[in-house]
Amino acid sequence: MPDPWFVTAFGAHYPALYAHRDEAEASRCLDLLPRLAPLEGSGPAAGLPLLDLGCGDGRHLVHLASLSVPVVGLDLSPPLLAGARRRLGSEGSASSAALVRGDMRRLPFGDDSLAGVLSLFTAFGYFGPLAANGGVVAEVGRVLAAGGHWFLDYFDAGQVRRELGTEGAPVTRARVVGPCAVTETRRLGPAAETVIKDVVLTPLPGREDEADALGVGPAGLSYREQVALFGLDDLDSLAALHHLERIAGAGGYEGEPLGGGSRWLLVYRRRDSGTRGEDA
Ligand SMILES: C[S@@+](CC[C@H](N)C(=O)[O-])C[C@H]1O[C@@H](n2cnc3c(N)ncnc32)[C@H](O)[C@@H]1O
Repeated sequence: MPDPWFVTAFGAHYPALYAHRDEAEASRCLDLLPRLAPLEGSGPAAGLPLLDLGCGDGRHLVHLASLSVPVVGLDLSPPLLAGARRRLGSEGSASSAALVRGDMRRLPFGDDSLAGVLSLFTAFGYFGPLAANGGVVAEVGRVLAAGGHWFLDYFDAGQVRRELGTEGAPVTRARVVGPCAVTETRRLGPAAETVIKDVVLTPLPGREDEADALGVGPAGLSYREQVALFGLDDLDSLAALHHLERIAGAGGYEGEPLGGGSRWLLVYRRRDSGTRGEDA
């Protein structure tokens, strides 16, 4: 069976495609989040570890690692985890965080064991439309202690729908990224429940070896990303099923009002665990 898209898409080439998503941008995001809710959690969660879920190559971890609580980064991608290891190593001993290879649908952490879970830069919505992502939310609700927070940094789905239009007309962008020509074609999926991006990378003439080092062979690399387009109500309802209630939000890393920027920065608080036994 071929790999699912989220294995192919987050390969060694991924940091080159998103080079502008760097440590400086991560810092802006992490400056905002504590203004929405404490990263270290509150109540029984206070002081427990913090999880960067889908940590990628660690651009947020280098900042989080200076917090007073233990920090863990989890990701499925071996090349991105290797990048995180390099990045943390080069920041010196002040920046330590544990790194774990795992799948966000089955978290290797105990019930009520974490103060916070951060799903940053749309590290969420990868498994099909809406309800197909419930397993991840269930895991977040399970591992958070009461008073812990789930920080979800997700695109503003309303803006994506407006940009791509209800007819689903594709929008294509072509560019050169390092040793590759790249085309990215975005459109809405059926019933506007997902956003689809077809990505094609082709080695530039004479730069085949460099491309190969990024996992792009002579025949090129192509894949289709498919990310769920949640409405805010959908997200809130899914979260509520797992005892998570939205307590804060912003529309961008500068603290824009929710709906007034390009992103949704949402904070869900884990309610008291007295009701956990009623989970479906
Ligand atoms: C859009 S990237 C964001 C990475 C990082 N948070 C950042 O802001 O740079 C999504 C990340 O989720 C990871 N990922 C995708 N599917 C996953 C899964 N099933 N379990 C764990 N991580 C996964 C990818 O490998 C990738 O690093």
